[in-house]
Amino acid sequence: MKLRDSYRTIMFVFIVIVFGVCINSCSSEGVNNQAGEMSFGLSAVQEAVSGNAVDNKLALTPPMGWNSWNIFEADIDEKKIRQTADAMVDSGMRDAGYIYLVLDDGWMAKSRDSDGYLVADPNKFPSGMKAIGDYIHSKGLKFGIYEDRGHLTCQQLPGSFKHEQADMNTFARWGVDYIKMDSCFAENNGRLSTEDYAIYRKYITKAGRPMVLSISDFGNGAWAWGGEDMAQLWRTSGDIYPWMDSVYHCADTSGGDRSIHPAFNGLWQFAGPGHWNDPDMLQVGNLKNGIGNKAHFSLWCILAAPLMAGNDLRSLSDSVRKILTAPEVIQVNQDPRGIQGYKVYDSGDHEVYNKPLQDGTTAVLLLNKGPKPVDITIDWDKIGLSGRQKVRDLWAQKDLGYYTDSYTAGDLTRHGLMLIKVGSPGPLLAGPAPMSPDKYMVTKNGTTYLSDLYYIWKHGNAPKSDKNFNNNPITINGITYNKGLGCKSNSKIMYKLNNKADRFKAVVGLDDSYSGSGQGRFRVYNEDLFGNRVLFDSGRMSKGSSVKNVDLDVKGVKCLLLVFEGKNVFGNWANAHAIAKD
Ligand code: GAL
Repeated sequence: MKLRDSYRTIMFVFIVIVFGVCINSCSSEGVNNQAGEMSFGLSAVQEAVSGNAVDNKLALTPPMGWNSWNIFEADIDEKKIRQTADAMVDSGMRDAGYIYLVLDDGWMAKSRDSDGYLVADPNKFPSGMKAIGDYIHSKGLKFGIYEDRGHLTCQQLPGSFKHEQADMNTFARWGVDYIKMDSCFAENNGRLSTEDYAIYRKYITKAGRPMVLSISDFGNGAWAWGGEDMAQLWRTSGDIYPWMDSVYHCADTSGGDRSIHPAFNGLWQFAGPGHWNDPDMLQVGNLKNGIGNKAHFSLWCILAAPLMAGNDLRSLSDSVRKILTAPEVIQVNQDPRGIQGYKVYDSGDHEVYNKPLQDGTTAVLLLNKGPKPVDITIDWDKIGLSGRQKVRDLWAQKDLGYYTDSYTAGDLTRHGLMLIKVGSPGPLLAGPAPMSPDKYMVTKNGTTYLSDLYYIWKHGNAPKSDKNFNNNPITINGITYNKGLGCKSNSKIMYKLNNKADRFKAVVGLDDSYSGSGQGRFRVYNEDLFGNRVLFDSGRMSKGSSVKNVDLDVKGVKCLLLVFEGKNVFGNWANAHAIAKD
């Protein structure tokens, strides 16, 4: 935990590594062809980016399994993993659908072998990884493993950077079925996330073994920049912790507006069979007092989130086992229609989600996150139904009867919920309508003001459109701008240029309403922070500094990241617009 935290603090201190020559890596194949596997040049990057589609048969429903991190962190060994595999079978977890047993960070030796290959930590895993994989497979489970696309993992063990092909081949040889590819130190790679993950996709395909690829990038917007072309799932959040605030926070990165413009109503439109939003692994069984276990599990099920258990299965209590294996709740998650549930009501403390199912019924979650007991009602017209409808309680596995026009879950205490199935099998209920592309990406020739688009990823404060952060006109050094984005403090905002724009222009400066002595800094990145492709840097600006004009060539840029930094400072991207030529 400590190492990761300190990693985080240095994460945004970038070191640009101009990486070098392509040593024949593009053409070399085969497990033992080490020479060709060890290095990358831009041509390999380009080839990978233009290359490979994801295996379209994997993860058609959200992956289910167990991962070692939430309970053991890096303290894993052969005995624990074998015992966990046994427990997955004996507890009924495997038969409930938890198939992947994933070894997270901490499995490998401090350095590669003399030929550059990854090896297991000899003290923790004396039999080696192939043997562990064989054991996992012998139990009817699938074998998952952790690596990192930086030169080190978050625990400072050998990362895959510059060993991509060799490592994917090694994993294939060990019988790996699932790879969680993390992002610590990846900002040093000099590669965009799209380039990095496309490389893994390419070498997974070349390795010739079907392996799920899980993007672990602290939620840096994979849904926006094309994670689905490379991977079966991607994180939408930072790490989850075993308390309910963290659980709700992570859920809101996928189901709410933590990480995307509120108009999208969550990330549901980016999920579907073979590509899932991942608000991180389960803390069911790790939460203090167990209060919240059902709320946590219900949320992950309605959000079609990957279900990676993270508790110690060797000491699984009956009550936690019943939650993790609740058959009708899991069915909601695993529904083959693959719609991610979306909010139809949110008062802050009280939420209702709807997830239309394959059989023509729909699953509805009514949840009280707040301190006071409450009744929560769902009106049928909010979920595309009317009249008299059958209602089934999915936790109790019990029909509740027929309800006309609405259903009320009574007296829900804090973290209390009802997860119901509404309706009778029949024709499919309509899913929600996705956001039209012209609302969130550059689609037309000419000028598109970013303030007229919905941002597709954000971290920190959301910007104000065509206003300063106080909702007044944007004014810098006495000049008022009708268009632009008003920011306060740290705000990272991603817009989708969609490879369509030629230039990006803006005028940046601190807003006249700001009277403090703080400094603000404006930076523009290609895509996300990982490639460290800084297209513009204003340097530190103070109140009254002359404005800086931004005028950038953005041809071929998928997403543009606008980063404003300045503690409590008001800064504007005045007149920010993209220009696409005919
Ligand atoms: C984090 C990741 C965690 C865990 C950890 C291992 O970056 O988000 O899920 O894998 O690294 O060090």
